[in-house]
Amino acid sequence: MRQHILKPIAINGMTVPNRTVVPAMVTRLSGEDGFVNQAIIDRYVSYAKGNVGLIIVEAMAIHQSKSGPLLRISDDKFIEGHKKLTKAIHDTSNSKVIPQIIHFMKVARSGWRQTIDMLSEDDITSIIHDFGDAAARAKEAGYDGIEIHSAHAYTLSSFLSRHNRRRDRYDGRTLEGRLRMFGDVMAQIRSKVGDDFPVGVRFLADEMIKGGYTIEDSRLIALRMAQLGVDYISLSVGGKFEDAIKQEGLPPYPYTGYSGERCMPGASFPKMPHIQYAATIKETLNSKGYNIPVISVGKINDPDDAEQLLADNKADMIGMARQLLADPNWPKKVSLGREEDIVRCIYCNVCKQLDEKFAEVTCFLWPKGYDQAPEYEADDTPPNWQNDEPLRAEYINGVVKLKWDRASGNISGYDLYRAEDDGKVKIIQAKKGGKFDDKSVLGGLKYSYYIRAYSKSGQNSRPSNVVELDLPLEKFRPQPT
Ligand SMILES: Cc1cc2nc3c(=O)[nH]c(=O)nc-3n(C[C@H](O)[C@H](O)[C@H](O)COP(=O)(O)O)c2cc1C
Repeated sequence: MRQHILKPIAINGMTVPNRTVVPAMVTRLSGEDGFVNQAIIDRYVSYAKGNVGLIIVEAMAIHQSKSGPLLRISDDKFIEGHKKLTKAIHDTSNSKVIPQIIHFMKVARSGWRQTIDMLSEDDITSIIHDFGDAAARAKEAGYDGIEIHSAHAYTLSSFLSRHNRRRDRYDGRTLEGRLRMFGDVMAQIRSKVGDDFPVGVRFLADEMIKGGYTIEDSRLIALRMAQLGVDYISLSVGGKFEDAIKQEGLPPYPYTGYSGERCMPGASFPKMPHIQYAATIKETLNSKGYNIPVISVGKINDPDDAEQLLADNKADMIGMARQLLADPNWPKKVSLGREEDIVRCIYCNVCKQLDEKFAEVTCFLWPKGYDQAPEYEADDTPPNWQNDEPLRAEYINGVVKLKWDRASGNISGYDLYRAEDDGKVKIIQAKKGGKFDDKSVLGGLKYSYYIRAYSKSGQNSRPSNVVELDLPLEKFRPQPT
């Protein structure tokens, strides 16, 4: 039993049933009109079915500015759709649901982009009002709270940034000046939703750009946010325009450069590269008497790791964006003691590439043709082998030829595992059918293989028999003279 992951947490009167969070993740499922549609409802209900504790609905615009497909909460006409979404989630489970509300600046295909020093005082006043009005709409629509998007390449983050070039009340040369816009927005939101409505924030623990701020500033930014009455802090890093890679004919995309890599660390990064940020920020907050929850994020997906982070007080909640996209049933599987069945994210970042192209965001690991993650039937019979030695292998001319007998059950595919010279076991392939040619082997080494069948909902069979092969080293001779 995972004592920490499954422990509820109270956030300003909202009881979140466990410590798992799906952080905001743009889905591109809404049209350019910005309305909630059935695909959006299905996506977020899948998290509720999987018992995710806190569901943060993707960034939604608080203003009228044009963009690609993006949800909106910028007018009363959008409230009805959001009501349907919150009702569908609340009718499904006791997951809590909060929208991330965003203001962004204009960007053009030419590469030009508006920066905050171009904003007039009137522009700023209207942004502050837009935040307050959007928060009020969210409350009316039945959300359990709101999250202010103050991260990545967007307006509020640019005020916090060390690259802020304003020289007025929001002066970029002092930390106090950089924090004032957030203070104004927070005060406006509170005046609209009251003190007893959860208001969280997402901001950057490190900008990850040259001349950007680091943890030395972010611990103080977090402290000020707590002083201003935010109810939780969700961290992220990077995702800035400053180092975005210019792509001909496309508007700049802030997740292309190094800071973007850090924001959504791919397969080449070690696991959990950013956990120290949440730990340090928690230390600062706790030492000053603030106990608001801090959400850690970034390549966390192992239940053992998540449990340990919570046990060690390095985080209060565990954010998993790509992992919960791959398998929204992670919390349910953990609570049922079926962690073996979790479909593990491989951080291939296909989801990120889809987002970049404004295409509907899906997961590479879902069965072919699915536009949502498969549902998990806990009482599914897991796939099973029909005999003791389903796997066979032979080595012919540089190729290990693997063949196996089909497993019984509702099979979606087979994972192939390989170890080289008794080293670490790795998954080398996922296959639908019963054979695979491994052409990346080297003579003189020993290879061990086994396979596991998996069902659509991610349930795995036990490992098959292990086949071991000692590959002969080819002999070379000089040419005859
Ligand atoms: C497709 C995609 C869309 C995202 N959209 C948002 C967003 O709307 N708002 C936000 O704050 N972060 C967004 N993120 C960042 C994630 O919330 C998260 O911080 C990041 O993926 C790292 O967490 P992970 O390793 O658990 O995936 C997005 C990430 C991806 C992959």
